Amino acid sequence: MRITMVGTGYVGLVSGTCFADFGHQVTCVDKNVDKIAALDRGVIPIYEPDLDRLVEANVRAGRLAFSTELPEAVANSDAVFIAVGTPSRRGDGHADLSYVYAAAREIAVNLKDFTVVITKSTVPVGTGDEVERLIRDTNPQADVAVASNPEFLREGAAIRDFKHPDRIVVGTDDERARKIIAEIYRPLYLNQAPVMFTGRRTAELIKYAANAFLATKITFINEIADLAEKVGADVQEIARGIGLDNRIGAKFLHAGPGFGGSCFPKDTRALVKTAQDHETPIRIVEAVLSVNEIRKRAMARKVAAVFGGSLRGKTVALLGLTFKPNTDDMRESPSIPLVTALQDLGATIKAYDPVGMEQARNELTDVTYCSGPYECAEGADALVIVTEWEQFRALDLGRLKQQMACPVMVDLRNVYRPSEVAAHGFKYESVGRPS
Ligand code: UGA
Repeated sequence: MRITMVGTGYVGLVSGTCFADFGHQVTCVDKNVDKIAALDRGVIPIYEPDLDRLVEANVRAGRLAFSTELPEAVANSDAVFIAVGTPSRRGDGHADLSYVYAAAREIAVNLKDFTVVITKSTVPVGTGDEVERLIRDTNPQADVAVASNPEFLREGAAIRDFKHPDRIVVGTDDERARKIIAEIYRPLYLNQAPVMFTGRRTAELIKYAANAFLATKITFINEIADLAEKVGADVQEIARGIGLDNRIGAKFLHAGPGFGGSCFPKDTRALVKTAQDHETPIRIVEAVLSVNEIRKRAMARKVAAVFGGSLRGKTVALLGLTFKPNTDDMRESPSIPLVTALQDLGATIKAYDPVGMEQARNELTDVTYCSGPYECAEGADALVIVTEWEQFRALDLGRLKQQMACPVMVDLRNVYRPSEVAAHGFKYESVGRPS
């Protein structure tokens, strides 16, 4: 199959590269000239394990190319995926669809033979209808079908998730489109990935429902963690105890500082807006959003509580700044409100992140950035684990204790066992576990 991927963000770049790896002929198109020039030189704009190797191999094999020229790519494609950003619109929380519609218009005028245009970007229900209307208005002669094929990959595990999905969702009523999309995903069928064909609006809503459900699951366990702390119970045991029930499932039950990233916050906001517009508010997701928002700053009070409520004159060392490990993404990271709240409480902040420091510098001011966890802990009154990078799981606790001004660890990801940290003479606080 000949495929054009419009947009080289997380979803576009990973999907385009993996489609090429399946053996398809893929052109990834982006308006950003510098980005395309960098990709042509083999420089990957995002940190994603293994992506550089896969890009290089497929470029070398002649299956993957990068271009700023959408017209030529589209005219020679069986399928065109729209994978541009759908950020939260300033002011109202709706998804900003201007990039999607601009792409649709540009695609429309360049369509030649029968082509399937597929939205892979996360778009509100009904966007496919609007994309189709735009294309037909712009180019009434076009032989085209518009489908929805939401993506469920996670940052940091993107290639594995793409190649071993729990399911593939395809929304279209058009038989020719189904055939082409089935052919594109054939290597995954062979791996037994279930493919679900459904209506376009249903596919669009599946994506939002999935993200909102996962965000709800996380928020639920976070609130249970707060209660567990008050009553002397252990949230990890609770998560295990409920997760062993197949109806609940063990995943996404790790209590922490609240969810962040480029998807859950934005998508839950957009779903809430869509539901309100249709006068069917999804109150549970509205609650998830506000509980999660409040939580991030509450984590700073958790640190301050160790010192009697104020952090004036204290130095707090943060380990991990990105919203999750294995990414350099700082978008809506819980570390951002956490740092501000710690500063509001009077703290001086030092921080270290294995790959996110460059991005962090754009978001966080008045922070001393360090080159490793031990340098970060040097002279600090409290060490806070914010992101569970592997390299923070086996720190030399004896060395840390010697270096710190005051042996306090606040582990917002429950990386350590309370008994082992306490055995090294630390005052240890974690999330939803007895200290
Ligand atoms: C999420 C979904 O998991 C993907 O399926 C989806 O494709 C993607 O959004 C998207 O819509 O593009 P992602 O944002 O990359 O993926 O990362 P997750 O691993 O889901 O983590 C999101 C946030 O939830 C992180 O801040 C993480 O620390 C937090 N989290 C996750 C928890 O606090 N506890 C958990 O048990 C799991």
